[in-house]
Amino acid sequence: MKPRVLSGVQPSGNLHIGNYLGALKNWVKIQYDYESIFCIVDLHAITVYQSPEELRAKILELTALFLAAGIDPKHSAIVAQSTVHGHAELAWLLTCVTPEGWLYRMTQYKAKSEAQETIGAGILLYPVLMAADILIYQANVVPVGEDQKQHLELARDIAQRFNSLYGETFVMPETRLPAVGARVMGLDDPEKKMSKSEKGSGHAVALLDPPNVIRKKIMRATTDSNPAVSFENMGPGVRNLLAIFQAFGDWTDDQMKRHFEGMRYGDLKKQVAEMVAASLEPLQQRYREITADPGYVDRILAEGCERVSPIANSTVNLAKRRMGIYTRS
Ligand code: TYM
Repeated sequence: MKPRVLSGVQPSGNLHIGNYLGALKNWVKIQYDYESIFCIVDLHAITVYQSPEELRAKILELTALFLAAGIDPKHSAIVAQSTVHGHAELAWLLTCVTPEGWLYRMTQYKAKSEAQETIGAGILLYPVLMAADILIYQANVVPVGEDQKQHLELARDIAQRFNSLYGETFVMPETRLPAVGARVMGLDDPEKKMSKSEKGSGHAVALLDPPNVIRKKIMRATTDSNPAVSFENMGPGVRNLLAIFQAFGDWTDDQMKRHFEGMRYGDLKKQVAEMVAASLEPLQQRYREITADPGYVDRILAEGCERVSPIANSTVNLAKRRMGIYTRS
């Protein structure tokens, strides 16, 4: 049997090239080496208020984007998290073995709780639900961007704690980061991670941005006061543009250096813009085809749920039995 891979994306905001390079592109590449499960994590999205209408639309849009990026539904299961009830159920079981201090230490929780006066309790419990997403499928590998590393470490800690309290139950999942593109930075501010929730129009390139918008955003990207690329001495903005090019083009470090050393920033930006626009063009074309059939995406999600539910049910039952919770025999 093949090892299992699991990952997920929140259906909130517009998917951008950071999500693509940090996660989706990798999933497409490795999907056939594993039994693959990719989730649209709608229960995570509602940890902050979402307009119900928009959320419903985003779930379908994200599913279509998974397909358009090259996730093969004949091989890989695409699942809306909330349709497999065991995710929420296992999250509760895991909450009960998680020391609260582990959750208060999460950088994402700290950032959000410092930024707002009151936040929902769901934000604190968010990483436990994420651990449940992974552990419920006994996933061996979890391909994510760098910002999810701490959550993955917590998932392992929770699994370990459960296993030591109740006996071997969960597989220890391994984090898999891409070699390039694990942390794509904002185009307007290369000190900040590119993020779906950032509002500035020059911050992120969305996967569905038309080519002229992609060009405009990249041509306006923040660089530094040098005139041309120097691999010896480059600021974060230029490093980010080069990483975006390299990750889309699958170029080696050597190729990058030979091609870009000494290139003026205006030309660098033009080449990055062309690379991004050309790489997204086929994805956008497939997206249009997929969404032309209104029932297709719903069918894919129904199939995904059906395929993975037996795995999820059997893990939840095992965890319940181990804990001594009443289970019907
Ligand atoms: P989310 O929806 O914020 O992001 C989805 C994926 O995109 C990656 N990513 C990035 N990679 C590179 N550069 C960036 N600027 C960038 N921004 C985002 C993320 O690392 C992620 O891989 N908690 C998760 C969703 C989740 C999940 C899971 C992931 C829920 N359950 C189980 C893996 C396994 C999240 O909010 O991702």
